[in-house]
Amino acid sequence: MRKKIVAGNWKMNTTVPEGVQLAKEVVAKAVEVPSDVKLIIATPATHLVPVAEVVKGSVVGLSAENCADKEKGAYTGEISAAMVASTGAQYTILGHSERRQYYGETDEKLVEKTKLALANGLGVILCVGETLEEREAGKHFDVVGAQTLNVLNHFSAEDMKNIIIAYEPVWAIGTGKTATADQAEEIHAFIRKTLADKFGAQVADDTTILYGGSCKPSNANELFAKSDIDGGLIGGAALKAEDFIQIALSF
Ligand code: 13P
Repeated sequence: MRKKIVAGNWKMNTTVPEGVQLAKEVVAKAVEVPSDVKLIIATPATHLVPVAEVVKGSVVGLSAENCADKEKGAYTGEISAAMVASTGAQYTILGHSERRQYYGETDEKLVEKTKLALANGLGVILCVGETLEEREAGKHFDVVGAQTLNVLNHFSAEDMKNIIIAYEPVWAIGTGKTATADQAEEIHAFIRKTLADKFGAQVADDTTILYGGSCKPSNANELFAKSDIDGGLIGGAALKAEDFIQIALSF
């Protein structure tokens, strides 16, 4: 059975003390959320150790926002999957469109990152999504299908137990422009069909597929009501504990 998940991606926001405070607020309010909804917060790498301390013993999971495509060694500034796992984090986001766009994250690198994350016991939140230009050219299914398979072709049905997909149309991220629930559902159903063709119906049915892109308390309900939308990857609205929890109460 797939899980309902609401994950907050803090991106490059908050100082360490601010992040610790936000995590404390999320943990305090998490008791309001039904136990079948999993909460995850993804923080900057600098925050993982102190935030791991805050979420310890609570229902809130902890994620990194990225990890390196190399195991270890002379890669100045990089943070390995083993390092992430050693903080107490249980997940990492990979392939966020901001990393694809600004930091040259390719599908090839994502294969390596995903392998290392899984080998170190981390769950992976793999992001896919088309740009506005690609959508307007009618290429959104091709782009999302290729992004999904270029990475997942290298993994097994067993690996899929630890992989969550997040569909984040680039044109909806931070723009206030949400995909309509129907637009999102159409792509989610397509991703699930892609997974079914590759791994079989059971794996497809068991994989959690999140929607991300201007998801907020006012629209989460309509999005989460769709049968193939299993929750959200939340950016801006995850920086306020109240909004984040409100979204988690929207199933
Ligand atoms: P916003 O919710 O700020 O649009 O960001 C979505 C996102 O990129 C989450 O990873």
